[in-house]
Amino acid sequence: MTLLWLPEYAVDVSSIDAQHRELFDRINELRGAMRSGKGREALEKTMEFLRSYIVTHFRHEERLMVASAYPGMPAHLAAHREFETQLAELESRVRRSGSTVDAVIANNHLLSSWWIAHIRGLDVGFGKFLVARQAFEKPGVLPEVAVH
Ligand SMILES: [Fe+2]
Repeated sequence: MTLLWLPEYAVDVSSIDAQHRELFDRINELRGAMRSGKGREALEKTMEFLRSYIVTHFRHEERLMVASAYPGMPAHLAAHREFETQLAELESRVRRSGSTVDAVIANNHLLSSWWIAHIRGLDVGFGKFLVARQAFEKPGVLPEVAVH
């Protein structure tokens, strides 16, 4: 099942939305690699790229949370750290055994339901806060935020 981007996933902050869309593409790439039983090396490479992209993405959101003094930051950070822990576990499982049925099942949940729930449950709220906050900030305080 392909992870499809829907308009309701938009957080209305263009830098975050662009990264989310890129993440969906990368997740689909990884899931495709797992499904087609690609070699362990190819699988590990795709996974490694995805992991570093996820770290970049989380740090981007977190920098914006600090810059905007976002009150929901502790809960949001905890969710990011939890995902990173689960991804590291999945990664070591794939490294040990390649694309097993177990890994595919874990991958499907972690890389689809988790993202959709996270975007809709936390990122959309943060996006709304950021858009409202930016309207009251002096220009240049939140330089990375380009609202749609
Ligand atoms: Fe997030």
